[in-house]
Amino acid sequence: MYNKMRPKIEDIPDQCWNELSQNLLPEKAILHTRTTPDQLKRVYLDGYAVLELRDEHIVGYFAAWPVADGFHEVGTAWVRPDLRGHGIGRALYVQMKHLLLTQDRIIFGVTTNPVSVHLGHMMNLVSHTNWSDPVPWDLTCGRCDKYADHEKHTCPIRDTECRLRVMK
Ligand SMILES: CC(C)(COP(=O)(O)OP(=O)(O)OC[C@H]1O[C@@H](n2cnc3c(N)ncnc32)[C@H](O)[C@@H]1OP(=O)(O)O)[C@@H](O)C(=O)NCCC(=O)NCCS
Repeated sequence: MYNKMRPKIEDIPDQCWNELSQNLLPEKAILHTRTTPDQLKRVYLDGYAVLELRDEHIVGYFAAWPVADGFHEVGTAWVRPDLRGHGIGRALYVQMKHLLLTQDRIIFGVTTNPVSVHLGHMMNLVSHTNWSDPVPWDLTCGRCDKYADHEKHTCPIRDTECRLRVMK
């Protein structure tokens, strides 16, 4: 079945990936270790991302990054600022849920954005306060680029501003 949020790669102009990468730069809640044009395109080609394409621009994007054997981390949820609050993010989460339904692996997400926490319910992401099990620490706090490693065990925002969610 044709999926509006999984257009064919040949229907996505190549400059879209550069533009998307640039557009993600100012976003504080997005992990910036995986936002090069090549990374964004690769995860899409591998079948683990959904996007909204309008007038040859990517205006919404959401990926489920394979971060370790058996684990995918949903992240890089983004909607162009002028289009936020109109349901594109919600649609991306719903499509991601369908994309991952048949995956036999643990799906999780870490976010400091309350909108993402809210939308996570659309794909059965449930808040989880154990940051080491079943998702190993190295994949949760260990990968955070906001705090230095020596600060992570006493992170002031864990379970308050920053939430770990696991898909049930
Ligand atoms: C997160 C993001 C992708 C959401 O996209 P969007 O198109 O604006 O989302 P939608 O319009 O579909 O839905 C917003 C929902 O959040 C709700 N919401 C708005 N403000 C909220 C808040 N402060 N707290 C909780 N929920 C909130 C809205 O009511 C709506 O829910 P509803 O559909 O149940 O009514 C977008 O805001 C974004 O790109 N943010 C910047 C990048 C970022 O921080 N990404 C998250 C990194 S993991």
